[in-house]
Amino acid sequence: MNWLRQHRLMGVALLSLVLGSLLAACAPDPATSIITPDLGPQLIAAARAKATGMEQPEAPALLTLADMSDEEIYAGLDGDLAAAIQAADPAGGENLATANACIGCHSLDPDVVMTGPTWHNIGDTAVNRVAGESPAYYLYQSIMDPNAYVVTDYPAGIMTQTYQDTLSQEDLATLIAYLLSLHGAGE
Ligand code: HEC
Repeated sequence: MNWLRQHRLMGVALLSLVLGSLLAACAPDPATSIITPDLGPQLIAAARAKATGMEQPEAPALLTLADMSDEEIYAGLDGDLAAAIQAADPAGGENLATANACIGCHSLDPDVVMTGPTWHNIGDTAVNRVAGESPAYYLYQSIMDPNAYVVTDYPAGIMTQTYQDTLSQEDLATLIAYLLSLHGAGE
């Protein structure tokens, strides 16, 4: 083998190497077919689905009045008031709600938004408003000290603040009994 032939052979070997890798680069690669013009939108949609899934975790089952004992419903209230609520006739609360102007700000219709939140199902709503507060205590506090807890999306200081001075214990008890009777709509 002379010097020239040796270098020619090396040249051919090099050339086929280069050609081979060029061919390999041009061959259709299955991985490249994933990259389509739709990839961007697809990725965004997948990310959105994941994000919304995280924003809406499965809601824990809410307690209702029907799940609770009397002791749990009236917990935290003065014993006399708790007894007065249990002895009261809830139906009397309707007149009291008119006489004390409550119905000027609260409707019984879930779809009617007035100045205050609807009283539709308020008995069950009261169970879950404030962690650790019994529903009867929550209603009592909502009437006697409206700013102690302000319902989300409603401004503080709008509800009449003087019921603690104007309502008798008997009327207060009847109103709370009435509000507690508005329940069971979510079951
Ligand atoms: C001038 C309007 C107005 C009047 C009158 C009024 N309220 Fe309210 N009430 C509101 C507003 C606004 C809220 C929500 C803001 C807050 O929590 O204080 C509210 C909240 C409540 C809540 C809590 C509701 C919930 O979904 O948690 C109860 C219970 C309630 N009121 C009972 C009464 C009773 C009983 C009367 C009458 C004795 C009455 N209100 C009179 C405006 C009013």
